[in-house]
Amino acid sequence: MNRLMIELNGLKLEHPVMNASGILGSEPEHVDILVNAGFSGIVTKTFTKNPRNGYPPPIIVELDNGGYLNAVGLANPGINGICPVVERARRHGKPVIVSIGGSSLSEFIEVSIKAEECRATAIELNMSCPHVKGHGLDLGSDPSMVYTLVKEVVSTINTPVFVKLGLCDKIIESAGKALEAGASGVVLINTIRAMAIDVYTGKPVLSNKYGGLSGPPIKPIAIRAVYEVYREYNAPIIGVGGISSWRDVAEFILAGARAVQVGSVFMKNRRIVYEILEGLEKWIEIHGVSSIMDLVGLAHRV
Ligand SMILES: Cc1cc2nc3c(=O)[nH]c(=O)nc-3n(C[C@H](O)[C@H](O)[C@H](O)COP(=O)(O)O)c2cc1C
Repeated sequence: MNRLMIELNGLKLEHPVMNASGILGSEPEHVDILVNAGFSGIVTKTFTKNPRNGYPPPIIVELDNGGYLNAVGLANPGINGICPVVERARRHGKPVIVSIGGSSLSEFIEVSIKAEECRATAIELNMSCPHVKGHGLDLGSDPSMVYTLVKEVVSTINTPVFVKLGLCDKIIESAGKALEAGASGVVLINTIRAMAIDVYTGKPVLSNKYGGLSGPPIKPIAIRAVYEVYREYNAPIIGVGGISSWRDVAEFILAGARAVQVGSVFMKNRRIVYEILEGLEKWIEIHGVSSIMDLVGLAHRV
């Protein structure tokens, strides 16, 4: 029996490690790379209705604290790019979660319908992008908006809907509203709005000035968010933020995540999934459980 197998409201994965949206996933060729890297489910780049070029460079910088700052600007090929990516993942026999962004209810609906037509296994509503105005965090930080949007999408399509939220004062409330509206689970968290300034030129490093902080520095914040949402709702949670080892994944699972997504570290280490799985196998052995699902939320019970 596969002890790493997990289940999220009907979405079955051979192990808990997916890629995070935006770490490849906008083109079919990216899917090949993600599948070879061992991810159990493929998460696409966020697709919007119309193609977006994103911001001019520099759009991503590595910081000296091990984190990254990015402002890609949701660059993606638009709605017509969805089917080729889904088809490629299906050809590999992998579940595929299509990430969807938009600046209006009708755009979210239209792109969700397209993702269903393309036979996405699930969709992930990106209500958390911290650096594109009107396309993310401003939606996800308004619990009533989250409720309305999720309710509409859930009642329009039959594909399971996950909701990705970002750091904001009302993250717990927004997660509750997403679940109340019928989401199959929540994805916590996106990058955190941040900034870096070049001390020689005196200018912000990113062309967009602001960006999203990712990588190890955000992990404790993501763990806190997962812990609190699990404590409140005991719901299916996908944890994301700063994972760079099996220990980080174990921490997310203990906090209440059933699955995780790995982003920034994959830019440096293409073997990370295999390393994580090896560590998790040993960790399960130490705990003497027959399924990793038995360890989900354990930190709330000890
Ligand atoms: C270059 C880059 C592009 C990203 N693009 C998206 C995106 O299109 N949609 C989305 O929901 N999150 C996007 N994210 C956020 C990641 O999915 C993830 O939530 C975040 O990076 C935290 O995980 P990490 O610390 O493992 O990178 C992006 C992150 C990076 C670094």
